[in-house]
Amino acid sequence: MGAPFTFLHITDLHVTPEGAPPLYGLDPGERLAAAVADIAARHGPGSTTPAAFLIVTGDLTHHGEPAAYDRLESLLAPLPMPVHLLLGNHDDRAAFGAAFPAAPRDAGGFVQQALPTPAGLFLMLDTNEPGTHAGRLCASRLEWLAARLAESEGDVLLFLHHPPHRVGIARMDLIPLLDADALWQVLAPHASRIRHLFHGHLHRPLAGSWRGIPFSSLRGTSHQVGLDLTERPTAPGSHEPPAYALVRVSEEGVLVHTHDFLDRTGNFVL
Ligand SMILES: [Fe+2]
Repeated sequence: MGAPFTFLHITDLHVTPEGAPPLYGLDPGERLAAAVADIAARHGPGSTTPAAFLIVTGDLTHHGEPAAYDRLESLLAPLPMPVHLLLGNHDDRAAFGAAFPAAPRDAGGFVQQALPTPAGLFLMLDTNEPGTHAGRLCASRLEWLAARLAESEGDVLLFLHHPPHRVGIARMDLIPLLDADALWQVLAPHASRIRHLFHGHLHRPLAGSWRGIPFSSLRGTSHQVGLDLTERPTAPGSHEPPAYALVRVSEEGVLVHTHDFLDRTGNFVL
């Protein structure tokens, strides 16, 4: 790998149908449109930091209606780079499939794909489980992952909606990836070549490591979750600014920049 490989990460779009009532006081579609416009202006071909593609780690829509996915497709259309979509707990696999019939799936019908890149193999997982907001990786999905790892060598970057770790926010810790131990059993033999894990779900900027694997997440393009590490049983919603992440992967490491795309304070000479 020569120059850093650059891609974008956004998460938790929670798009609602055109004309739907505001969600927590805002229109998630307008928010996504603002993110897309900023990305197109800054990271398209010919820009100073062109991005190879955009990865969206789930909660594409808020209620999973067909009309919300139709709107999502329209909102993403102006992007000047390919988009790879993952499902979250707010999504509906069938409705997603109807709106995005060309989206890759594994043999079990899960929205999972392995994408070879100059920065390594990007593995995207489907943790959506109907009937719960928690995440699951059943035997079928884990077998797919194990097979992709077994047949590959070199660096791997992982993407999924639900984090395998708890974060100390009571409500969110009730609905993490419930199959974290089973996931680890699959990953452990390959842990030394898994460079980073990207997730969503928390609507918060977060970075650290899980069982030695570095991870990061970021605010959604819609509403957020506040920093409240008490035992409060409800999610502490907030309207902290939305962000997208610009990720640069080089031989030396993985670098994650976040950008508050609604910030209008501008730059000045320091
Ligand atoms: Fe979400």
